[in-house]
Amino acid sequence: MLSENIESALNKQIRIEAESSQIYLSMACWAESQGFEGVAEFMFAQADEEREHMLRLLKYLIERGGKAIVSELSKPTTEYTSPKKMFEEVLEHEVFVSNSINDLVSITFDEKDFATHNFLQWYVAEQIEEEATARTILDKINLIGDEKSGFYLFDKDVKSMIAKKPAQ
Ligand code: FEO
Repeated sequence: MLSENIESALNKQIRIEAESSQIYLSMACWAESQGFEGVAEFMFAQADEEREHMLRLLKYLIERGGKAIVSELSKPTTEYTSPKKMFEEVLEHEVFVSNSINDLVSITFDEKDFATHNFLQWYVAEQIEEEATARTILDKINLIGDEKSGFYLFDKDVKSMIAKKPAQ
């Protein structure tokens, strides 16, 4: 049985993952509107992944006899000044998610809920991957500088990164 405290912390994380999905969906739409089709596809795939992250938590909560809450979500930003600015926000957001997962893991440890602690290890590993991906993309953008032709190749390159993500 989950404690009320852990149930509430898991529900908070469910909302964060759902909001992550919305944020990335909004980024995908912006990228599409700017002609960055590869980046748009990448962000659509990221949005799907975040929904999976949300569902995985939600199903775990239900499986453990908890009450899962589907809450309202904050409206994401719809405009970005550049792909660089957008991916900086992706990295910043993923660091925020990692901190939130770490807080959650810490609560399960304090309460000796080792089942949930164990369940969350998948998220700990996933966050390393998510942060690394955002940093890799930012490194690529920094290499291009302001070269227009570079952005054409960058867009293709980011699209090719979708398939490279390990299966969940
Ligand atoms: Fe599910 Fe990207 O955090």
